Amino acid sequence: MEHNAQQAQKEEIMEHNTQSSKDTTSRRSFLRKGLAVGGAGLIGTGLLANGLSLPAFAEEESGSLTKGDVAILRFLAAVEILESDLWQQYNELGGIQDSEVPGGSGSAAYIKALQVLDGDMSQYIHDNTEDEFSHMAFINAYLASQGADPINLDKFRTLPSSKATGAQHIGRLTNLMQLTVDTSWWTRYRSRTQNPDLGGTFAQAIPGLSAGKFPAIPRHDGDLAPANHIQAIANTAGFHFGYIEQGGSSLYPTLAQGVTNLEVLRIVLSIGPTETAHFQTWHDKAGNAPALTDPTNGLVFPDLNASGGEDTQTNLIMPEPTVFLSRKFPVVSIIRPTQIAGSGGAVATIKSFTADGLFIGQSQEFFAVLNQLAAQADAARRG
Ligand SMILES: [Fe+2]
Repeated sequence: MEHNAQQAQKEEIMEHNTQSSKDTTSRRSFLRKGLAVGGAGLIGTGLLANGLSLPAFAEEESGSLTKGDVAILRFLAAVEILESDLWQQYNELGGIQDSEVPGGSGSAAYIKALQVLDGDMSQYIHDNTEDEFSHMAFINAYLASQGADPINLDKFRTLPSSKATGAQHIGRLTNLMQLTVDTSWWTRYRSRTQNPDLGGTFAQAIPGLSAGKFPAIPRHDGDLAPANHIQAIANTAGFHFGYIEQGGSSLYPTLAQGVTNLEVLRIVLSIGPTETAHFQTWHDKAGNAPALTDPTNGLVFPDLNASGGEDTQTNLIMPEPTVFLSRKFPVVSIIRPTQIAGSGGAVATIKSFTADGLFIGQSQEFFAVLNQLAAQADAARRG
């Protein structure tokens, strides 16, 4: 498209965004304007290139996005950007660097320690990373297609990279070198009597990880030995993978309940379960983390099967049935929590990520932006 036409289109989009922020975002009017300006240009070809064929134009008769829908998608885009950033760091050192997930060149000692959890860890890290990038790109592209503002957090890419051989030296959004990992998800998914939505609380599987600051990637090549130190780093990553993806597993169904537009609901319901697919995988792999004590800092990974109790048994990786909605109902195997604006909601997710240490070193503006996006998403109600 010629420059002038592009400029005109941008102005149309900006004008539309201004209007939509006051009320709802009308895809229909956006498409009409876009097509009027661009003809068969940017908007039309963009949609077609993304697989939205003509019937999609007819479907938009069914409704438009509410402010709540946009808020939910914008928050999810932000979370996916954050997830992409942290998974990228894992992939550079512990995954597979290729055309699908470029960047970095791997750390042999770290990969060897990860492979103690599963021989396919590098492939899984690669695939989880690619998935998060695809979520981020799709949600942002969809927002733009609706005339809503996509999310861009590039100005907050200020945190340091690992100095270990294999990592890129670029600014990051998230910190993986001083983590305080909440491992209560492990016992939460094993409990048959408690649910956070009904006030349940849960013990830490790895108490040491939840009280201190530990690296989940080697910070420098000095972290590659002794053997139980780099293994502790890989173990930390293993439990952190599960922590991150259980968060996504609750966040999507929690926010889905506030969605109004059916197509947005389809997006949220189609992406969310992939987070659970990740979680299920990581849940299984974390159970293979060997019991050890890190000689450099005293971090203990206990033998989770030693007690003989179900609360920590390593092969109980499928959600145990538990109480849901009310204790008057029979127990049921479910994702938990899922209460609207509850402990799996948007605000709680940012609070949890902050407690995890993911944002150590970030600016006040960063937290302000994220917290505002989160509050708006939690406030969305089905209209
Ligand atoms: Fe994701």
